[in-house]
Amino acid sequence: MAGADWPLAEVLSIREELDKSMHYYVHYIGYNKRLDEWVTPVRIDFTKISLPKSKNALKEMTVTTPLAVTASRPSSPDISAPATPESWVQQTSTPTSTRENGSLALKGRKRPLKMENEDSQDSAKTPHPTTPLQVPRPSGSGSLVAHNDSDIITRMKNIEMVELGRHRIKPWYFSPYPQEMVNSCIYLCEFCLKYVKSRKCLQRHLQKCTLKHPPGNEIYRKETISFFEIDGRKNKTYAQNLCLLAKCFLDHKTLYYDTEPFLFYVMTEHDAKGFHIVGYFSKEKESSEDYNVACILTLPSYQRRGYGKLLIEFSYELSKFEGKTGSPEKPLSDLGLLSYRSYWAEAILEILINMKPSEHGGDERPQITINEICEMTSVKKEDVISTLTYLNLINYYKGQYIITLTQEVIEAYDRAAAKRKIRIDSKCLHWTPKDWSKRGR
Ligand code: ACO
Ligand code: ZN
Repeated sequence: MAGADWPLAEVLSIREELDKSMHYYVHYIGYNKRLDEWVTPVRIDFTKISLPKSKNALKEMTVTTPLAVTASRPSSPDISAPATPESWVQQTSTPTSTRENGSLALKGRKRPLKMENEDSQDSAKTPHPTTPLQVPRPSGSGSLVAHNDSDIITRMKNIEMVELGRHRIKPWYFSPYPQEMVNSCIYLCEFCLKYVKSRKCLQRHLQKCTLKHPPGNEIYRKETISFFEIDGRKNKTYAQNLCLLAKCFLDHKTLYYDTEPFLFYVMTEHDAKGFHIVGYFSKEKESSEDYNVACILTLPSYQRRGYGKLLIEFSYELSKFEGKTGSPEKPLSDLGLLSYRSYWAEAILEILINMKPSEHGGDERPQITINEICEMTSVKKEDVISTLTYLNLINYYKGQYIITLTQEVIEAYDRAAAKRKIRIDSKCLHWTPKDWSKRGR
């Protein structure tokens, strides 16, 4: 029976099963889309349906028009909306569309670029041309147009399962794999990320594929953790396959075909069988907005074990080598914001807590400027200020900003630092930044 706490949900699609039972694809309003799912009628309270207001509502209802219902809550909403949402954080409810008279009105999505086929996979077909192969492109390029009616399709998860090495992973969002691959399990070669339709095809591929690590240069290794730098121009197929996989877990980025303007930093864990992908981030070769990360992902099987913060730490280590400050591309996802906030807080507190008393001796408090914190961490000024403000450490006093560290904050930092077992060791990074403006991409 429906309870009072059943959340409102939008029905995005309805399908009839072979046994004639109806299944409903629902989005829980106010929850992240990764919780969207097919439910049976027992999960829906049909006494609380509100129909779309459009005149053509009934005609449209089957597929294109969302219908509001209340449905029993997803079993474990893994995260609530961020406590203090900021303008650059992805909003959890209906992020890409607003409803007008019951139909979807679409806002500010960029048009996918023309498909580039020259480097496509050999046996699997390329994604169908109406769906963008979702590869990021630097902001500022590409045109802004209203989205077409395929939006309802891209709002729904289309892949049942991804098998990657020893992991079977349930995708969170739509990803534009070719039409013939969808609604079933996709099998990926864990080293070159080629996708095929069946385990048999994968076995055939594995007999031929000699790769035991991502392509590109290994630029970091410490114990079992390595980072490979992959040029989106030189290893286009790999980069595109990586983006297709990543799109299964990234909802909020506008994504494009073109991988050339990006470098991809793939983090792996090494064992006797090879270098297994754990996560990655992409980075524009040249960013006019000082972005040092475009998209970042820890594969779900490895999440919540500190790898996300390791990827973030690595991205700032690269910025340190470049002598620049950097920031992640906006908007951040809910989990992205949590991870960045946690990383920034630790990186800044590490400096503040380890500061020596003022050189002038006496009772003087240690002094540091925001710019010095930026230089030491490579964290961009606005992120340093937002973190200090979020932690409630910054006060304006007699014309000056004063940072006050409470015992509580110091203890929280100590606990977090003790929890963080793996860290990036700059001595293990063998990398020279390139000036892409001089080289051509
Ligand atoms: N619920 C609550 N807190 C969480 C969750 C969760 N599901 N996942 C991570 N966190 C918190 C952790 O508690 C940790 O904070 P703490 O150290 O202060 O406790 C912090 O986030 C980072 O945790 P990690 O274990 O280091 O991060 P993880 O390996 O899980 O990766 C990431 C984080 C990359 C954001 C991962 O969740 C992910 O890949 N999500 C899907 C893709 C995505 O949203 N990427 C970011 C988009 S923004 C951008 O691309 C610029
Ligand atoms: Zn392979």
